[in-house]
Amino acid sequence: MVARVVPVAPFDLVVFGATGDLARRKLLPALYHRLHDGQMPIEARVIGAARAQMDAEGFRRLAAEALDEFVAPADLDPDSRRRFLATLDYVPLDVTKDDDWQALADTLGAPDPERPRAFYLSVAPRFFGVIAERIAAAGLAGAHGRIVVEKPFGHDLPSARALNQSLARHFDEGRIYRIDHYLGKETVQNLMALRFANALFEPLWNAHHVDHVQITVAETVGVGGRGPYYDGVGAMRDMVQNHLLQLLCLTAMEPPARLRPDDVRDEKLKVLRALAPVDAARDVVRGQYGAGPGVASYADDVGDADTRTESFVALRAHVENWRWSGVPFYLRTGKRLRARMSEIAVAFKDPPHSIFAGAGGRAGANVLAIRLQPDEGITLSMTVKDPGPGGMRLTPAELDMTFAEQLGGGGLRMPDAYERLVMDVIRGDQTLFMRGDEVEAAWRWVDPIIAAWEERGERPALYDPGSSGPEDALMLMHRDGRRWREISA
Ligand code: NDP
Ligand code: BG6
Repeated sequence: MVARVVPVAPFDLVVFGATGDLARRKLLPALYHRLHDGQMPIEARVIGAARAQMDAEGFRRLAAEALDEFVAPADLDPDSRRRFLATLDYVPLDVTKDDDWQALADTLGAPDPERPRAFYLSVAPRFFGVIAERIAAAGLAGAHGRIVVEKPFGHDLPSARALNQSLARHFDEGRIYRIDHYLGKETVQNLMALRFANALFEPLWNAHHVDHVQITVAETVGVGGRGPYYDGVGAMRDMVQNHLLQLLCLTAMEPPARLRPDDVRDEKLKVLRALAPVDAARDVVRGQYGAGPGVASYADDVGDADTRTESFVALRAHVENWRWSGVPFYLRTGKRLRARMSEIAVAFKDPPHSIFAGAGGRAGANVLAIRLQPDEGITLSMTVKDPGPGGMRLTPAELDMTFAEQLGGGGLRMPDAYERLVMDVIRGDQTLFMRGDEVEAAWRWVDPIIAAWEERGERPALYDPGSSGPEDALMLMHRDGRRWREISA
């Protein structure tokens, strides 16, 4: 299928941390795809910056290796690869050293109001403040330059506030792009299309018709080489505070008046503010993966037999407003689970009265499942008549739409989230980026849960690798007379 793309204007993008894991694995391949698809013009410049001493040719070699490793061979077109590498430049730069910044200023030249300019901070968050300050001091951003910051955005509410303040000293909010890559995922954007471009679901999207919502982000990977980072963070900070709460917001928010960045973000913020405080002992389960056949335990992965960090969280939340009064939102995420699967499932109430009493089978409740990965798509579970002359027997069936098949005849490549997000930065569209007050509201809700855990000092419940998480997570649902959906690929 031919991709439908609108080219962006030629731009200058400075990537701080251009030799790092994120740049090599995600940013450079994302930019390559955008050029290959005709969206990134060859007049654009991507300027890598890091301490490693090399010239533009050296950086092109590093980028070429990254493309060869992280772009699927079928998508790696030699001509596009060559044209992409030609857009790259490099400046050796220690962001903490004043003297190094002049070379970047020389390479960039004076800001041109016609040419979008963005600074991607793919470095540790402790550098965010200093980079923002130096960009401003050297006048590199001009009046329109944008700054892009990665997660983690703070460790708790005070640190997130401090980070917001340090950026706000040099950039106004309209020029700060806080990445939550889940917002760039195709199906997450499709959730908005599903809800607000179709008349079918909105009348049912409330406490009168919805029994509960389940949001699952399950991974099969462990913490791998990220142990030192992850062990100081845990699943609550790494996944729930950002990705899962953003999914909850998009599911629960009111229709914004328009698809303008602040209209959408205002509505998400209202959801975060409407979240009822949870009782960490009653409403939240934390788990940690143990060892399995050929699989090391979490404690072994991070090299600390006594670690109390969670690699799994399940919780029940309530959005206290008219639309969602009494509807539980169950959130669950973890590493080393049975399958890699992310979905939002909206479970509707049972039909109010069954006329099929005595018939085989029963009319089950409808579930609308929005699959983020793998196989992005939407499934609606229905109850239908079992075919044949054997009387009125009921059976479950699914209306299943896989986007790649439905929209691309099987030939559509689903773009990575970073492709969309980086192009939105260049276009100046902040809709899919978190605003400072949203980030703070999410921490305000999450912090007391973590504080309660720290106070109790308990170890998370152990679960088997390859399972669905700890027993307690099943009990969280069972107590409410409900069940988690199967974690399956
Ligand atoms: P890495 O440690 O792999 O890379 C860090 C980069 O920063 C390197 O290019 C390093 O190059 C550069 N750097 C370090 N110190 C300086 C300095 N003083 N001046 C200039 N450059 C410096 O980190 P990641 O790429 O994994 O992560 C980058 C950011 O993205 C972090 O904030 C991380 O939390 C976030 N992130 C990463 C994800 C991932 O999948 N990797 C996912 C989500 C967020 P050099 O040593 O040559 O200076
Ligand atoms: C990152 C987390 O933000 O998201 C990782 O730091 C996690 O721990 C990753 O593995 C999951 O992203 P995705 O896109 O693979 O679902």
